[in-house]
Amino acid sequence: KKPQHRKGSMMDVPRDLIEEIKVLKSIFSVSPAKLRQITDHFRSELEKGLSVNGGNIPMIPTWVLDYPTGKESGSYLAIDLGGTNLRVVLVNLLGNRDFDTTQSKYSLPRKIRTATADELFDFIATSIQEFLHEQYPDGCKEEIPLGFTFSYPATQSAINTGLLQRWTKGYDIKNVENHDVVPMLQKALKQKNLPITVVALINDTTGTLVASHYTDPKAEMGLIFGTGCNGAYYELIKNVPKLQKDLPKDISPDSPIAINCEYGAFDNEHKVLPRTKYDIIIDEQSPRPGQQSFEKMISGYYLGELLRLVMLDLHQKGLLFENQSCDKLKIPFHLDTSFPAKIEEDPFENLSDVKDLILDELNIHANIAERKLIRTLAELIGTRASRLSICAVAAIYQKRGFTKTVHAAADGSVFNKYPDFQSRATQALADIFDWKMPKDQYPIVLVPAEDGSGAGAAIIAALTENRIEAGLS
Ligand code: GLC
Repeated sequence: KKPQHRKGSMMDVPRDLIEEIKVLKSIFSVSPAKLRQITDHFRSELEKGLSVNGGNIPMIPTWVLDYPTGKESGSYLAIDLGGTNLRVVLVNLLGNRDFDTTQSKYSLPRKIRTATADELFDFIATSIQEFLHEQYPDGCKEEIPLGFTFSYPATQSAINTGLLQRWTKGYDIKNVENHDVVPMLQKALKQKNLPITVVALINDTTGTLVASHYTDPKAEMGLIFGTGCNGAYYELIKNVPKLQKDLPKDISPDSPIAINCEYGAFDNEHKVLPRTKYDIIIDEQSPRPGQQSFEKMISGYYLGELLRLVMLDLHQKGLLFENQSCDKLKIPFHLDTSFPAKIEEDPFENLSDVKDLILDELNIHANIAERKLIRTLAELIGTRASRLSICAVAAIYQKRGFTKTVHAAADGSVFNKYPDFQSRATQALADIFDWKMPKDQYPIVLVPAEDGSGAGAAIIAALTENRIEAGLS
């Protein structure tokens, strides 16, 4: 039988474009050998971050010095400053590995990423005030302890401090870097006479680790695959050389300590990651070039932008959306990660959802060949993100020398919403370790996390109060 020239088959695609797709496929693919090379380097960078001189990956000791027992109890406030919302949560820890929560979300003003520090903290305090009015209409009589989830790299000399090292995820608020954010929040709360004490500053990954361990003792890692990408795990103090010097006397070297890795900064020196020219553009146009190299290739803040840059490049080469003006395609960060995610979700042969989406978001008419190409691009970008992301998990597993089955508790929009992220990541783990056993026996299991920035922050606040009551550092 003669091959049929079907409309929409690759036969409609110009030769140059076919060549270009080949190139894109090769630059966005990550082979098992490359994954292993990245994991090896990652592992040594984790070690370096814990050393006296430190390294690229900050490996921040969080001063969370206890595993939760499940018996923590009491009422706590938790706040989480995310990318688009501020979440305020009242958490009741019930003392039996269970908790209930009441929460409200306050959408962040559009320009908050570049507002002033006063505007940011005033917005937070005003939102908390509103929340308290709703929860305690007759006024709140007692002082409430608060756990502040602040998901940026912050150096902690104690659990209730956090010196912002640098903004990530597109934030760029002046006069916060190199300052302790806890007094800034406390001051804004005081100005409104709110009966709240900030008892702990918590990274979202640490909250995820602790909340997940609270309900699942096998949970040894807390991971965020979201707007940003990062992980936390428990290390033994004696394995953290940079902590040995000024360690308070009542803290045993055998005590666990949660480490907020801040591994979005992995490979800032560009030794192993397979960066494409699009990754380089993203980096150069960001407010902090040269930083968060790993994060910029894999996290939700950047995946839509990556796809936009590739499409724009093909358009400018005359290979895509010919004779269309494509004004919206030229706007930086016009597409967020839900765009490639929705493209990958389209179940139809003719990609009709993709067609509507491109028209709605970009005002562009995409023919069937173009839709297929964009679908392929989304797959490449999404698959690369999941495969690279998981190298961090493999490296932590090796670094800790785990031999038992470990649950890696994960949260974040990419983990929860990007199609096939989890299965692709699991496949990459199998590639790294060359696992041959059935899938359900893999020693690292990605599990959905408990609410780290709500329950996790509250549990950490409770652990802190328990230590204070016991007279411990
Ligand atoms: C960025 C932040 C980090 C956070 C992660 C996930 O990497 O620097 O603190 O944990 O995003 O939100």
